Amino acid sequence: MRLTMIGAGYVGLVSGACFADFGHVVTCVDNNEDRIRSLGAGKMPIYEPGLDRIVASNVAEDRLRFTTDLAASVASADAVFIAVGTPSRRGDGHADLTYVHAAARLIAAALDGFTVIVTKSTVPVGTGDQIEAIIREERSDADFAVVSNPEFLREGAAIDDFKRPNRIVVGTTDPRGREVMQEVYRPLYLNQAPLLFTDRRTAELVKYAANAFLATKITFINEMADLCEKVGADVQDVARGIGLDNRIGPKFLHAGPGFGGSCFPKDTLALIRTAEEAGADLRIVSAVSDINESRKSRMADRVVDALGGSLEGRTIAVLGLTFKPNTDDMREAPSLSLIPPLQAAGASVRAYDPQGMEFARPLLPGVTLAKDAYDCATGADALVIVTEWESFRALDFARIKSVMKQPLLVDFRNIYPPSELHAHGFTYRSVGRPRLDRGEAVS
Ligand code: NAD
Ligand code: UDX
Repeated sequence: MRLTMIGAGYVGLVSGACFADFGHVVTCVDNNEDRIRSLGAGKMPIYEPGLDRIVASNVAEDRLRFTTDLAASVASADAVFIAVGTPSRRGDGHADLTYVHAAARLIAAALDGFTVIVTKSTVPVGTGDQIEAIIREERSDADFAVVSNPEFLREGAAIDDFKRPNRIVVGTTDPRGREVMQEVYRPLYLNQAPLLFTDRRTAELVKYAANAFLATKITFINEMADLCEKVGADVQDVARGIGLDNRIGPKFLHAGPGFGGSCFPKDTLALIRTAEEAGADLRIVSAVSDINESRKSRMADRVVDALGGSLEGRTIAVLGLTFKPNTDDMREAPSLSLIPPLQAAGASVRAYDPQGMEFARPLLPGVTLAKDAYDCATGADALVIVTEWESFRALDFARIKSVMKQPLLVDFRNIYPPSELHAHGFTYRSVGRPRLDRGEAVS
């Protein structure tokens, strides 16, 4: 099939490359000329493990192309995917549909023959209806179907998630739309991926419901971590103890600094706004969104506390800036809520991230960017792990201690057994494990 992907970002580029890998002929369109130029030169505009290889091989096989020419690629496509951004609208937290609506207008002008228009962007319930109305308004003669096909991939594991999804959700009641989508995804359901067909509005809502549920799970365990700190329990054992119940499941129960990223924060907010407009009161999701924002903003207090109440003249070393490992994405990263308050309280901040430095630099003025974890720790009064990159899991603490002013580690991801740090003479603070942090024998 001939597919066009509008938007060559984290979702569009991964989806386009994977569809090409399955044998479709894919054109990725982006209106960011630098991005298309860089892709044309074989340079990935984002960091996603394995993406460069899959792009290179499919470009070489002539199944994957990059262009800014939306009209030509839409005219020749069987299906056109919209994978543009839907950020939070400034001021009210609704999903900003400016890019989606603009893409719909451009698609309308270029349609030639029956075409399926697929919304891959995360969009509020009813957006498919709006896209349909825009296209009809622009081109009363157009022959098309608008289908919802939300994407569930995670950054850092995007290729595997796309190729081996837990499920594929397709929202359409149009038989021709259904047939084309079946053909588009045929290679994946040969991989045993369940294909759930439903109506368009329901598919749009499935995406928000999934993200809100996962965000709720994380927030739940974060609240349990707070309670563990008050009552002297261990949140990792609580997570294990509940997660072994297969009605609950072990995933998304890692306590930490609060969820970030380009999806959970904005999607929970957008879902709340959709519900408000519809006259439904989503109290759980509202609480999750509020609790998470306040959690992220309180993380700096833990560092202040670990340093005895004042940061004046102190140097803090931060390891990990991106919102999670294996991505360069800084959107809503917990580091962005942590670092400015540390600076405002008088601390100098040094930081290191394996992939996020380029995007982090303009977002974190005044932060000294280090060349590796050891350079970062040099001269620091406290070392703070914010993102659990693999390369931070086996640090040489004898070396770290020798370069720090004092041996203090604040670990927001619980990646170390406290006893290991104590053995190196460190004071260690983690999340929801107060007795282990204090080195108390736990019976
Ligand atoms: P992104 O910002 O990385 O990429 C969007 C791209 O669209 C940009 O390169 C931009 O230049 C391009 N674009 C915007 N308007 C355009 C137009 N008119 N024509 C051509 N290109 C245009 O965004 P993303 O992270 O890939 O997210 C895209 C959508 O997918 C969002 O709705 C998001 O919520 C959803 N989503 C994201 C993820 C994720 O992990 N990032 C996962 C699932 C769903
Ligand atoms: C998420 C969804 O998982 C994915 O299905 C959707 O398509 C896009 O949004 P992503 O944002 O890439 O994916 O990463 P994810 O692994 O879900 O992590 C999101 C945030 O939650 C990160 O800040 C992460 O550190 C945090 N998190 C995740 C926790 O704090 N604890 C956990 O147990 C899991």
